[in-house]
Amino acid sequence: MCNNLYTLITGASEGFGKALAIECASRKMNLILVALPKSKLNSFAESLKQKYEIEVLAIEKDLSIEENCFLVFKEVHELQLSVNMLINNVGISSTMFFSEGNVDFYQKQVKLNVIVTTLLTSLFLDMLKTNKPSHILNVGSLSSFFYLAKKQVYGATKSYIYSFSKSLRGELSSDGINVTVICPGGMNTNATIIMTNKSNNWLARQSIMNPEEVAPIAIKGLLNRKEIIIPGRMNKLFLIIDKLLPSFIIKMIANNHINKFKSYSIGNQNNVPFIGRAY
Ligand SMILES: NC(=O)c1ccc[n+]([C@@H]2O[C@H](COP(=O)([O-])OP(=O)(O)OC[C@H]3O[C@@H](n4cnc5c(N)ncnc54)[C@H](OP(=O)(O)O)[C@@H]3O)[C@@H](O)[C@H]2O)c1
Repeated sequence: MCNNLYTLITGASEGFGKALAIECASRKMNLILVALPKSKLNSFAESLKQKYEIEVLAIEKDLSIEENCFLVFKEVHELQLSVNMLINNVGISSTMFFSEGNVDFYQKQVKLNVIVTTLLTSLFLDMLKTNKPSHILNVGSLSSFFYLAKKQVYGATKSYIYSFSKSLRGELSSDGINVTVICPGGMNTNATIIMTNKSNNWLARQSIMNPEEVAPIAIKGLLNRKEIIIPGRMNKLFLIIDKLLPSFIIKMIANNHINKFKSYSIGNQNNVPFIGRAY
């Protein structure tokens, strides 16, 4: 597919975003990768460029600073690059009681998970309309469907992503823009999460996937214009069970399970017992 069109991926230096970048590169898609400064993004971009003979631009910006979303768009615009695929992947997670978090963390979580997706979609909309057929992939979570203790803010941000994507899809289909939302369950994206996942019970462990398994499912589903992608048989099963069992039983099982998790969040909270990365 190597041409003058680009796929922009946020949070592309690690985890699921990195796996998505590799999958897109293997399909000869030119890339614009965004991640935090000092995230080894440049060397990753260079390796993709060499290996897959594609164009790759790395933009190192902290997206939790709203102005940086505008600067990303400005840079792409000034370089006259044409984006026909926007992958809103960046997001941070937490598993902790609401009282264990602080305002700074929740603000950052809402900014990265909700505002950045909304803002970038708005900024790139005209470009996507010009370069149709075009695609938007929003990364939600299985947490969008369950109202779990210790996942209150994270789950709500992912419910926003789910609802936003479904509404936008209806609106943009006549403009030739496809909108897909992927809702993965647990993925082994980084050391902290891998460690947490290992401590899960047997049933929950069966649903954990590697980002390298999920990324091809995501891109295939996106190109096939699927509305919602739930990767993995176990995750699909969880959703079916959720519909079949009475809600009080679901709540009991889910909350019993989630309460066994150690609390964690990303960032610099000093009142959180266990600090780690996303899911
Ligand atoms: N892992 C799971 O189990 C799971 C399950 C369902 C959904 N998801 C969703 O999948 C997405 C990716 O999660 P992940 O587990 O792959 O996360 P991750 O391993 O923590 O990677 C996050 C990526 O985002 C970048 N990033 C973090 N903060 C940023 C900021 N302020 N500005 C710009 N880039 C930033 C990171 O860059 P650095 O390398 O520089 O930190 C990294 O590239 C999230 O939306 C998450 O909610 C994850």
